[in-house]
Amino acid sequence: MTIPTTRRQFLQAVGVSGGAGVLYGTMGALGLAPAAQAAPPFRAPNRSDFTLTGRSAKSVVVLGAGIAGLATAYELGKAGYQVRILEARTRPGGRNWTVRGGTSETDLDGHTQHARFAKGQYLNAGPARIAQHMVTLDYCRELGVPIEIFGNQNADSYYFNENAGPLSDTPIRHREAKADVYGYVSELLAKATDQGALDGYLTGEDKERLLEFLRGFGAIGGRVAGNPAASWRYSGTNRRGYQVEPGAGFEAGTPKLTPYPLADVLESGVGRYISFEFGYDQAMLMFQPVGGMDRIAYALEAAVGRRFVTYGAQVESIDNTASGVSVVYTGPGGRPRTATADFCVCTIPPQVLARIPGNLSPAVRTALGYAVPNDTGKIGLQYRRRWWEQDENIYSGITNTNLDLATIWYPSYGYHDAKGLVVGYYNFGANARAYAALPPAAREARALAQGVRIHGEKYRTELETSFSVAWERTRYSEGGWVSWPSRSNGHYGRLLEPDGRVYFAGDHLSHYIAWQAGAFESARKVVTDLHTRVMAS
Ligand code: FAD
Ligand code: ALA
Repeated sequence: MTIPTTRRQFLQAVGVSGGAGVLYGTMGALGLAPAAQAAPPFRAPNRSDFTLTGRSAKSVVVLGAGIAGLATAYELGKAGYQVRILEARTRPGGRNWTVRGGTSETDLDGHTQHARFAKGQYLNAGPARIAQHMVTLDYCRELGVPIEIFGNQNADSYYFNENAGPLSDTPIRHREAKADVYGYVSELLAKATDQGALDGYLTGEDKERLLEFLRGFGAIGGRVAGNPAASWRYSGTNRRGYQVEPGAGFEAGTPKLTPYPLADVLESGVGRYISFEFGYDQAMLMFQPVGGMDRIAYALEAAVGRRFVTYGAQVESIDNTASGVSVVYTGPGGRPRTATADFCVCTIPPQVLARIPGNLSPAVRTALGYAVPNDTGKIGLQYRRRWWEQDENIYSGITNTNLDLATIWYPSYGYHDAKGLVVGYYNFGANARAYAALPPAAREARALAQGVRIHGEKYRTELETSFSVAWERTRYSEGGWVSWPSRSNGHYGRLLEPDGRVYFAGDHLSHYIAWQAGAFESARKVVTDLHTRVMAS
């Protein structure tokens, strides 16, 4: 772990690891930004707001039927706004995309893939996991979308690193790595505590309490009188698992007691992944909709009303007019058409919207261009046999590796079915770009060659079919999500305000970037802002 030494490094560290709002709140605490103000709870606009005041609901054209666009239309529709959604794709959800058998997609490089997954098998190409505190689950409840547990951590999945010392190219179960890392850290801290290194920080009573905690936490031995070196030793634990499982009668099992040597554990880097699951947004339990993430998008579409969504409608220009908004789009069949409304809510990703003509202000265009798209990709590998369950006792969860795959995900659905679908890579940055540069067949070959190193030849021989997505090469997305180099220099803030009668929404305008919760929260903010304006007019 790198200890941040400067304030800037500290801010970067909490910004990266802390998730929603932490960076901004910390800046506030340090006097660098206004302290975050608690947003009032969302109150959906209501029909009675109009009937009680004699006002009438306005018309709103929503651009994009991703989560932000659908949620905007859903909430405005509840109050009687005349809402219409224009969506370039032929399905709802945007980045919320579940690939099933029959899905076809041509990417920006002209590669066409037809998914041949079996019935019931699917790849959540975009969002896949939802934390319990996210508003996404509130919408699942409200819309009647059933959810089930998503296995984000599993003691039986692996850590696997190359070029990392003596433990290179060794699949190490999470339970083994955790036992050894917690064990050695506990031993070292206990030795330091007992030998007086922390006397300036701890009372004698607190030292004893800490030692007691460490004995349980690390499964370490106790104090050996007169022998500091032999005291508090970590010498392995059955937490690491068994070579021979305990059984009936006299079969007590043979634990894999012998730990990896401390120096090897440190050099191998398995410990570097453990803190991932401590993250506020990544801690178990996590959830997924039963049957695929797009169940949320389709439930929203039904709640909005299918007739209010025009698919295959690619927006070509957006203009504020004297009395409203005018949007030209290429409709189904290719003819240009114009949609007019009192207001517009635009959820098109900033890197795509930046190229769409119209009279949006120069400041808005500069702000759109300031967002930095992030590269990310996934591949779904369908296997004829669930070898991860049958051979390796892995039921959901994720293997972490420093191979270019980054992660392998085992499915959190369909346990004990005949077939199953593994996410063969979910990677970012340079690794994602390396796979994106390849045609789909070569991506599959590369993913298999890497996965064989962890799981053996069956990783290749049991494969039936695959489908891969490179988000930066995906039309109408051109990136997995964006990052803002700064949120305090005016560009981000510019998009939080309307440009004339055009409002902007999407996960990029939240502190939950790369989460559907951000799209929902942003939609709620824009709905509140727009409704407040209408009620004040
Ligand atoms: P989008 O979904 O991008 O919606 C924008 C819409 O605009 C799209 O439907 C698009 O087709 C449309 N559009 C674009 N151009 C035009 C045009 N010219 N005319 C008309 N329409 C247009 N979130 C989670 O909650 N959990 C996760 O585990 C998770 N993992 C992720 C993993 C990956 C690989 C990715 C890519 C995303 C992940 N996310 C996750 C984030 C989540 O997908 C997004 O936060 C959310 O879906 C964004 O919704 P949105 O409506 O803001 O944007
Ligand atoms: N929110 C995205 C994920 O959890 C990045 O994978």
